[in-house]
Amino acid sequence: MYKTLLTSIENNVLTITINRPDKLNALNTEVFSDLNNSLEEIENNTEIRSAIITGAGTKAFVAGADITEFSRLNKEDAMAMSKRGQDIFLKIERCNKPIIAAVNGFALGGGCELSMACHFRIASENAKFGQPEVNLGLIPGYGGTQRLVQLIGKGRALELLMSGNMIDAHEAKQFGLVNHVTSADNLLEQAKLILSVINSKAPLAVAACIKAANAVYDEKIDGFDLEIKEFGNCFATEDMKEGVSAFLEKRKAIFKGN
Ligand code: COA
Repeated sequence: MYKTLLTSIENNVLTITINRPDKLNALNTEVFSDLNNSLEEIENNTEIRSAIITGAGTKAFVAGADITEFSRLNKEDAMAMSKRGQDIFLKIERCNKPIIAAVNGFALGGGCELSMACHFRIASENAKFGQPEVNLGLIPGYGGTQRLVQLIGKGRALELLMSGNMIDAHEAKQFGLVNHVTSADNLLEQAKLILSVINSKAPLAVAACIKAANAVYDEKIDGFDLEIKEFGNCFATEDMKEGVSAFLEKRKAIFKGN
């Protein structure tokens, strides 16, 4: 089904593995196209309640956009490439099912940007994050200048963007870029464990959490207004009735997503 991705579904979690390990999983046009299709799969397949994005092999999550595709681009081509990448990463960010990055090595350039478009990140001990585009006379083009500032603050972000320096997993955790650091062997298990907890909650409430958190960064939306509406919408769901009844009856809620 995909040329550059491996996928599997287990316990309602789709694991997407970007599979170009000999090129450190660099994002070429084909990977973007496959990623775009996988987002449709996440949206349309009711068996999938959440997803993990990771990289094949032990060395890299994604070492960036595929630099070999750069030399033939002019200014207009580059802008179109940036727009397409941004649009696909926005779909990840706006997906109504949780998508988390399990960063298993280098997350550089487009790889760091991909991880930042996910709802949150966990990392293996050997993970390294950076935006080394300045080394190529470039800046990030897939939302990295925006999301890095949002996630770690302007001063830290500008130092990384302007120096091209990498940070390791522990520094990334200290900066708030990743939520957890674990051994490489345990990374996927930990991601699945976190998602098993989230998957046990009411899906419409989980989707509303994503929408409301994203509103913080959208100047066109008043996040507080949106919160009021989403809070009200929850009261019209069967799952909210079930959640409140289950609490009062001292039993575990069984959510159905409606
Ligand atoms: N685009 C295309 N190919 C890439 C790539 C990228 N972003 N990153 C790595 N590769 C390829 C290398 O060219 C090499 O291919 P080859 O075996 O055919 O020569 C292969 O992946 C292995 O990478 P290599 O550089 O040999 O590994 P390393 O351990 O010496 O170094 C990195 C690892 C991540 C430090 C180094 O690959 C690197 O700096 N990559 C580019 C990072 C970058 O600038 N990303 C932002 C792009 S905008």
